[in-house]
Amino acid sequence: MKRTPKVRLLKGTAKNLAFLARRLRAGEIVGVPTETVYGLAADALNPSACLKIFEAKGRPTTDPLIVHIASMDSLAEVAVANPAAIKLAKQFWPGPLTMVLPKTPVVPNLVTANLPSVAVRIPANRLFRRLIKLTGRPLAAPSANPFGYISPTTAEHVVANLGTKIKYVLDGGAATVGLESTIIDLRDPNRPRLLRPGAITREELAEALGQPVPLHRRTSTKSSKSQVAPGSLKRHYSPQTPMQLHRRISSSLVSRGQADEAWLYIARPRGPQPKNVFWLDLHGDLNLAARSLFARLRELDSAGFRIIHAENAQGQGRAAAINDRLRRAAAR
Ligand code: TXA
Ligand code: MG
Repeated sequence: MKRTPKVRLLKGTAKNLAFLARRLRAGEIVGVPTETVYGLAADALNPSACLKIFEAKGRPTTDPLIVHIASMDSLAEVAVANPAAIKLAKQFWPGPLTMVLPKTPVVPNLVTANLPSVAVRIPANRLFRRLIKLTGRPLAAPSANPFGYISPTTAEHVVANLGTKIKYVLDGGAATVGLESTIIDLRDPNRPRLLRPGAITREELAEALGQPVPLHRRTSTKSSKSQVAPGSLKRHYSPQTPMQLHRRISSSLVSRGQADEAWLYIARPRGPQPKNVFWLDLHGDLNLAARSLFARLRELDSAGFRIIHAENAQGQGRAAAINDRLRRAAAR
């Protein structure tokens, strides 16, 4: 007998959005589209709803969640803003930027892993913003993947990973950015620090703030202790297949390898290629490469290769974020 899947994929109709908003208000968790990656959302002000997120993901409660709001009117409800935060919000929200700020008392300790700060962002995805508005609550949402695995960039990825653990996924199509948001620590507006690289670059942030934004370098291999920047876990976003990172992949490197090794270039290499050679974007456009990275890694992970070789992105813009994810995916 065929088992009917528990999970329902819902398109963003007005009726479906109203239904999902009611489910969220009732304390259910819902897979949601964002421009970065798909999230697993719950009412951020309801600790027992948020606990379901940790359970579904197998995520330790020492790793805090990002709180998503629909507009600037809601910022003061969850966070204590400062002029630097307002400046960045004006320039980059709605969008792939998360700010860490002092939290307000209404945010449950479970959401922030007992930290006195909260990570907050206004997502660019319109469907998700409409859902937040309809729910009438800030929504906590981490990426909708099992803890440590590659983030989902389509509703189908969410179903594949969490289909037995959740009931609803709002289908908003493929994520346009494809990498998790940039995270900046603005608890002290005079000492901004980059906690996670993303589509909004360190250079853009420094330019907007008129001061450098150093990278927070402390990477931890343990997931157990509560961290200032839990997103800095060394191994994360990882396929099951071992990965090896190269500065550049060359055709001679490929020809010395075996057929059960996959080679992942940023751009399509010239000339005819063997079947175990892949690329992220035909022309090496880094925005498009970032968009396809996680889907590609998932594909290669399930193709049965013994090892995935990947090369670093070169240059500006999204290169830093792509290389950060590749490094963590390859970390042992
Ligand atoms: O693009 C994104 O940010 C996606 C979408 C769904 O919005 N979300 C996402 O969430 O990537 P998550 O949980 O996978 O990654 C958020 C990171 C975590 O590593 C978490 O530890 C960190 O943000 N974080 C959350 N609250 C924090 C806080 N108060 N201080 C420092 N880091 C925090
Ligand atoms: Mg994540």
